[in-house]
Amino acid sequence: VKSLFGARGPALLLDSKHKTWLVVTIVVGGISWGVYAVWDAGTPGGSTGGSRIGLLYGLLGAGCMVFAGLLSALRRFPRWGMLGSRQWWLRGHIWLGLLSVLFIFCHANYRFGGPIEIALWLVLALTVLSGGFGLLMQHVLPRLLGTQIDNEVPFEQIPHVCLELLRKSDKLVELLCGQEYAPTEGLPAGKRQLRAYYEEQLRPALAAKGRSADTLILSGMNVAAKIKQLGQLPGLEASGKELADLESNCKKRRALVEQERLHAWLHGWLFVHIPLSAALLVLGMVHVVSALYF
Ligand code: HEM
Ligand code: HEM
Repeated sequence: VKSLFGARGPALLLDSKHKTWLVVTIVVGGISWGVYAVWDAGTPGGSTGGSRIGLLYGLLGAGCMVFAGLLSALRRFPRWGMLGSRQWWLRGHIWLGLLSVLFIFCHANYRFGGPIEIALWLVLALTVLSGGFGLLMQHVLPRLLGTQIDNEVPFEQIPHVCLELLRKSDKLVELLCGQEYAPTEGLPAGKRQLRAYYEEQLRPALAAKGRSADTLILSGMNVAAKIKQLGQLPGLEASGKELADLESNCKKRRALVEQERLHAWLHGWLFVHIPLSAALLVLGMVHVVSALYF
């Protein structure tokens, strides 16, 4: 539990403020369940989804789900921020999202129901599971990769920073080995080989956009060893500083590949969670209409 609510590391999603929500959720959930169980036991043949208490619990569950869905709307209506910070909305999102499951269990009297209800159960379960999965990733991944990503660049600026690294590297190699496509016959062996290595391997990797294959090659290549080896060749003995800069550019580019990958994981799961929550809304309405009118 300590690690779940620990205060270590930046931007935790599960911090100590969750304790309050946890307690409130358990108390509200426990009382609601107790009330339902007593009512259910006192109802001959057991309660149903369409009974008064069944409907009340259906509405409570729906209310929790709608509240959870409002997290999306918060983006479009920043004024709602007056009610609470995004973190407050997110905490409510998580705990009320979980609580909705209990209300719906009572509403359905622990039954699966017909095809529509079964589909609804499935979508609800997947929504909650994908939410939990995403939360876990947001919590765990940055720490796992934290050692590799120390100077984080804002995500939107990554392409720009990559371009800068490429330009700087071009300049470095130009400085050492002359302009691109200029004849290399007169150059010493070290400079000739550096030019070839740069143009054939490093530059394509540095110039590759996003997380494409070339940049991944960069992580597989042993750039440091190759550059060290080149530095011992004639013509490059005195260029240690430039070579070190070149190597450092490749290292930075590689770190950005990792950061982009992390970003993709942290945001990709929402492409599952959000459509599921939309499906929940649609199916829920189908269920309500069909249950009430047919
Ligand atoms: C994810 C959300 C929901 C699930 C999984 C769900 C599931 C179910 C199930 C399994 C039943 C049959 C229960 C029984 O046999 O007694 C049922 C019945 C019913 N539900 Fe829901 N329900 C959900 C949300 C709602 C909501 C928000 C409402 C509207 C207030 C609602 C209205 C009804 C009604 C009126 C019935 C009675 C149908 C009948 O007796 O023929 N449900 N629901
Ligand atoms: C009925 C249940 C739920 C619904 C309808 C729902 C819906 C949504 C929606 C629409 C978003 C996108 C918000 C945005 O546009 O920024 C979202 C985000 C998220 N949801 Fe849920 N969700 C539900 C339950 C849960 C649960 C149970 C958890 C965790 C255990 C969870 C965790 C998250 C997280 C971590 C985010 C990302 C928030 C962020 O980083 O900005 N959700 N959810």
